Parts: sequence; structure tokens; C-alpha cells
Amino acid sequence: MKAVRGLFITLEGGEGVGKSTQLGWLQNKLTRAGWPVQVSREPGGSELGSKLRQIVLRDAMTPKAELLIYLADRIQHAEEKLLPWLRQKQIVLCDRFVDSCEVYQGISRGLGQPLVRRLHRLLLPPALWPGLTVLFDMPPEEGLKRACLRVGENDRLESENLNFHRTVRQGFLAQAEREPGRIKIVNALGSVKEVNSRLWETVQPCLQAWERDG
Ligand code: TMP
Repeated sequence: MKAVRGLFITLEGGEGVGKSTQLGWLQNKLTRAGWPVQVSREPGGSELGSKLRQIVLRDAMTPKAELLIYLADRIQHAEEKLLPWLRQKQIVLCDRFVDSCEVYQGISRGLGQPLVRRLHRLLLPPALWPGLTVLFDMPPEEGLKRACLRVGENDRLESENLNFHRTVRQGFLAQAEREPGRIKIVNALGSVKEVNSRLWETVQPCLQAWERDG
């Protein structure tokens, strides 16, 4: 198999933590500095994925069906987009990836984090694991307030109760504790600019290491 030489960075967190705004900012900053950058998101990073996103965020379904739709979305996205970009030595910024699945389906839906990880290990290309995962953290009460201010209806997962969102936050923090080398926590409270600089402090060492080793 051809070596994957790109840098894969994922952005994670609960609802309304500001991931997408921060991802846009990071994309601009890296592009302006001349880095080769691609951005994507899950669910919905491929053409098939856009259709799966509509279904999984709207239609009622069992937790296991939900897990398998997120997995189908991810496998298609990985093979069609992520792996080719990484083989072309791009920096790939992805809004949500495996950690969201381990937390939302594994922990909050109760299917078990080990089961979800096992399925990913079995089905995803092994080279496809993030080099850095930035976890934007804030109390779910605050994030949900922000998510409610967005235009449009809240989706099926955003509409879950506060308890569900508390398990999501705890789940992400537990992931970070298990893998402190890969998952870095960024405090998502404060102004967009404040979070921009915390994000940059987190990403910069990783970029330097990648450039050095590349
Ligand atoms: P988004 O609003 O950040 O685009 O994410 C869509 C929703 O999908 C969000 O509530 C988290 C959820 N989700 C999962 O439950 N499992 C997954 O694997 C992914 C990628 C997202």
C-alpha cells in the first residue's frame, strides 16, 4: 500500500462548541501561509454521505442502525476523499471523525466504546488515524444555547436531553484522558479570537513536527 504522508487533523466536541467556525479560521490561516489544505466533515463528506447525513440527522432509527449509517458515511468518505488527499501529502482538516462515533454511539447511545472502536479497526483503512485531534470543550448548557441560536431547526441529536449531552462531554473528556498524545483539549469558552489563539497554540507544534519529519 502507498504510504500516507499527509497530516490528518480532526476537530471534535459537543453541540455548539464552535468547531466549524474554528475550522474555517484554521483553513484560512494555513492556506494564507501556503500550506496545502483540504477540509471536510462527517457526516456528509462525500456525495453518498450528503444523503446519509439527511437521513441520520432527521429519521427515527435504532442506535445500531444509527451506528451503521455513520460507519457507512465514514468508510465512503475515507476511501473516496481522505486517503487520496493524505497520499497527496495534504493537510486534511475534518469536522468530526471516529471520536464522535465512539462518544455519541458508543457511550451516549450505550453501544459500548470498545465495540465501536473494534468496528473502525476492522473496516477503516489502518493508515487512517488522526495525527492530532482537537477537542473543543465547554459545558453542554452553553453549547446548546449557541446551537439553538443557529438558523433552522435543531437536528435529531441536538434535540436530545441535557443528560445525553452531559454524557457526550464526559465521553469526549474520557477519550482525551485515554489518548493524551493525540487528543488535545481546547477551552471553547470565550471570544472567537481567544479560541483561535488557543487552537493555534495546539496545532503549531504538530505542524512543525510534521514538516520536520516529512
Ligand atoms: P455536526 O452538527 O457537528 O455536523 O454533527 C452532526 C451530528 O452528528 C452531531 O450531533 C454529532 C453526530 N455524530 C454522531 O453521532 N456520530 C458520528 O460518528 C458523527 C460523525 C457525528
